[in-house]
Parts: sequence; C-alpha cells; structure tokens
Amino acid sequence: MTVKLFEPYKLKNVTLKNRIVMSPMCMYSCYKEDGKVTDWHYTHYTARAVGQVGLIILEATAVTPQGRISPQDLGIWSDDHIEGLTNLVGMLKEHGAAAGIQIAHAGRKAELDQEIIAPSAIAFNEKMKTPKEMTLADIKDTIEAFKQAAVRAKKAGFDVIELHGAHGYLINEFLSPLSNHRNDEYGGSLENRYRFLKEVIDAVKTVWDGPLLVRVSANDYHPEGLNIDDYVQMCGWMKEQDVDLIDVSSGALVPARINVYPGYQVKYAEAIKHESNIDTGAVGLITSAKHAEEILQNERADLIIIARELLRDPYWPRTAAKELGVEIKAPVQYERGWNI
Ligand SMILES: Cc1cc2nc3c(=O)[nH]c(=O)nc-3n(C[C@H](O)[C@H](O)[C@H](O)COP(=O)(O)O)c2cc1C
Repeated sequence: MTVKLFEPYKLKNVTLKNRIVMSPMCMYSCYKEDGKVTDWHYTHYTARAVGQVGLIILEATAVTPQGRISPQDLGIWSDDHIEGLTNLVGMLKEHGAAAGIQIAHAGRKAELDQEIIAPSAIAFNEKMKTPKEMTLADIKDTIEAFKQAAVRAKKAGFDVIELHGAHGYLINEFLSPLSNHRNDEYGGSLENRYRFLKEVIDAVKTVWDGPLLVRVSANDYHPEGLNIDDYVQMCGWMKEQDVDLIDVSSGALVPARINVYPGYQVKYAEAIKHESNIDTGAVGLITSAKHAEEILQNERADLIIIARELLRDPYWPRTAAKELGVEIKAPVQYERGWNI
C-alpha cells in the first residue's frame, strides 16, 4: 500500500510535503490587545513545523478590531501587524512547512467592549450582545478589510489564505437564514445570502493569486437552518469563483447540540468533494493515522486537518508515520532520535 498521508499535495503554485494540516486554533495570546504576534505564537506554531506538519493555518486573525472574537485575538487590520507575521512565516518555512492564515471577522460573536456588527440585529444567545445591523457602507468597508488583510498576508509571505466562513462568525451569519433576516440584496434567497462571501472572494482575488481556502460549517443542526445540500450548492459557486479547497467543519451558527464521534464531519467533506467537484479537507475528531489514511484512500477528502490532537502531540506527523509503518524525514538536528 502507498501511504497517502505522506504524499505531497499541490495547491496551485504551492506543494505541501504531506496531507497533514494544522487546523486554525485561536490562542488568545495577544496580551497587549494589539493583535500583534507574541512569543507564544512563535513557539506554538514553530513547534508544529518542526513536528513536520505540511501546512500550518494560523488561528482566526481579525480583519478589523471590531471583528475580533476577544481583545486578545491575532490581527491583520493594520500594516503594523506585517512584521510579526513575516517573522513567523519565515520560521515556519525554515522547517519546511507551508504557512497559511485564516482571516476572519467575528460578527455577532465578538465579545468586546464596543459596538458589534452583523447582517441582522439578532444576538447569538441571551448572554451575548445584540449586534448592530450592518449598513451597505459597513458591508463595503468589511469587504475592503478582507481585501486589505489579503494584501498584508501576501506581504508577510503566506502561502495560503483561508477565509473563515464557518462557526457562526460574520461570513457564516450572512449565509444562514437563521442569522440573516435582511430585506436587501444581501438577504432572502440563498444567492442573496451568498452575495457577501461572493464579494469577499472576488475582492481578495484582485490582490491574491495564491491558494484560497474557505472554511464552512456544512450543517447548522437546526430544522430551519442550512444543511449539506445548501453547502453543496454554495461550494459549487465557490468552485466557479476559483476557490481551491473547502475546509469542511460544521455547527456553531446557533446554539445546538451536536452528536460528535470520530470523523463526524467527514461525510460533509465527502459530499462536497464529489457533488460540488472541489477538493476538500476533513476535520473533526480525527486522531489516528489509520483513520486519516482511510479518509484519503477512499477519496472522501484530500487533506486531513487536525486541531486538538496537535495540541497534545506537536509531533503528530511522526506519531502517524510510526502508526502506518513508514519513515519520514526528521529535522536534521533530531535525526539521531527520530526514526527509532
Ligand atoms: C483551542 C481551539 C481554538 C480554535 N480556534 C479556531 C479558529 O480560530 N478558527 C476555526 O475555524 N476553528 C477553530 N477551532 C476549531 C478547530 O479548528 C477544529 O475545527 C475543531 O477543534 C475540531 O477538530 P479536532 O477534533 O481535530 O480538534 C478551535 C478549536 C480549539 C480546540
């Protein structure tokens, strides 16, 4: 058997050395609340690059201060953020990892001491703030903020940009009828609710010709919400807009109970891959190499995206290689202790 997990994968002009991706995970570690990279980020991300992860996608990084989930979020809303991000990208590449960044706006899920904005003035739950309904000018400004974030990501040397369209944050809020009650061209039909994401993709593409990923929540887990059929349709539109890959997550648009089990979102990655005819990444409770290999060999997804298991084991690629009985290259400094 040829092991697929360690086969290279081409994303436009970028070749990943394997199919293992570090999932974006907020670290809430900008202690000065300025959105700038801190020592924690250098240590945390570089450790996974040393551990031989193929693509590292930085945590949700805010395109405006108002779009942060918390005051400690990483940011890319100003040119002052470029220096730290450039240094970090350099460190990741030094260890052979490709560098990605998830650019994001929290919308109604921002927990900040300031006004927050969303497609409609509907709070996520009774504990959270009611957002201000975005005006057309707010929409235009936010699309521009995503575009400027892409300009800065390019300057910092990132290989990949991922748009955060999942987990009930701003883009996701536009897509779902549960959070979008607008009467203008950004609300109503699925096409109209997709318009904000469509315009964000188009705007980013005017300044970014590298690989573009979109993370989606393929199920709202609510009878009146979006389901996989809606996402198959929208991911087809993303394919037409030349998005390279869909990172397929689910939930968190509204409070809902989700039945989680190993690979619980893989079926959505599989449906989108085959029905929307676009490459996908599978994420969610994938912790063993054999499980990852099964997903790839059965062509259920093209990349394996790992979050919490990489917190527990920064060298998960090495652990996975051992589980699959193959040897992978070690950082030269570690060669004497790696493949034994
Ligand atoms: C600490 C932590 C922070 C997270 N932050 C983000 C984030 O910034 N963006 C995102 O899309 N998902 C985020 N997630 C979700 C993960 O990327 C992933 O989709 C989820 O944990 C399921 O994968 P797993 O079972 O491998 O952990 C976060 C998860 C954790 C545990």
